[in-house]
Amino acid sequence: MDAQQIKQFNHDLLDWFHTKGRQLPWRETNNPYYIWISEVMLQQTQVNTVIPYYNHFISRFPTPEALANAPEQEVLKCWEGLGYYSRARNLQHGVREMVENYDGRLPDNKGDLLSITGIGPYTAAALLSFAYDEPEPAIDGNLMRVLSRVFLIDDDISKQKTRKKFENLASDLIARTEPGAFNQALMDLGAMTCRPKKTDCLQCPVHAYCLAYDEGVQLEYPVKSGKVKLRSLNYAVLLIQDEQGRYLIEQRPEKGLLAGLWQFPMMSLDEYEEQSQRADYVRDRYGCAVAPVRKPFSYTHRFSHLIWRLTLLEGRGTTKKPLKTRQCWTAKDEFERYPFPVSHQKIIEWIKNNRQDHT
Ligand code: ADE
Repeated sequence: MDAQQIKQFNHDLLDWFHTKGRQLPWRETNNPYYIWISEVMLQQTQVNTVIPYYNHFISRFPTPEALANAPEQEVLKCWEGLGYYSRARNLQHGVREMVENYDGRLPDNKGDLLSITGIGPYTAAALLSFAYDEPEPAIDGNLMRVLSRVFLIDDDISKQKTRKKFENLASDLIARTEPGAFNQALMDLGAMTCRPKKTDCLQCPVHAYCLAYDEGVQLEYPVKSGKVKLRSLNYAVLLIQDEQGRYLIEQRPEKGLLAGLWQFPMMSLDEYEEQSQRADYVRDRYGCAVAPVRKPFSYTHRFSHLIWRLTLLEGRGTTKKPLKTRQCWTAKDEFERYPFPVSHQKIIEWIKNNRQDHT
């Protein structure tokens, strides 16, 4: 993105955040000590679970001194039910260091923050941006998921050096005017629309910039190979035909899984089945509605790290709607001119056996 696009991206993202972002108690304060507590609680725990614990904790320990001087058992009692209790102990140790070494005030620079027990690069960046308006991107799984989709980044997010790449990218991108809001907006996008297995792209304020959305490959990002468990993705494969019976096919992105090969359009089956705007979604991308084929057909394809479960849907498209780049209408007897992955060759076979009358 050039400087102008970055500006527009931030404008669209922050505009959305200010109207649709979540209102959360730790966002109503710029007290670094309270924000620190919230970030520690949020490390392994869902937002809705954290809210009552956070409110109770800050009323029980309203100042760093109150927490530093409290018996550990009392701190643990306030953490009861939240899990990962070493977080509470580390937080108290860290707060004691802050009281002893920094006069009870949380430092406002990265080096000092990182020297405190329990504060790592993510928490330091969150504190600097939320409490001190420093343009520090808070790199966590959410941010990497969202940005890997927007920029089609193939690097394995379980590798340490990938984090550095996201840090550089996000440092170029982060809104200088509202860095805290930028970080929280990406967190909200990750939680509300750009979720791991189910995306809600039409609600996303930056889908116009998203290369994965453009290519329809959102669910294949981020790449995370460290995981031993096979990931299983359910896709609807859309057999969309124009007035002459030709099929819509599209070329996959130049990077990533099956790069440059051709396929029938795919979208998340869960999204098709569950999302209320699914008709809009398909219309936005393909110009028609779709429904399951009359004789249901599903096919499972296993990659080394991934399983695709494909279910066929069909729809009537039109040549009146201009095609996006990398898409074309193709007659049944022209499929062999394009390279298709095996999974889609199976679909071509199905078309040839079941659609004698359609071209
Ligand atoms: N997860 C981690 N930090 C968060 C925050 N400040 N708001 C929402 N979710 C979060």
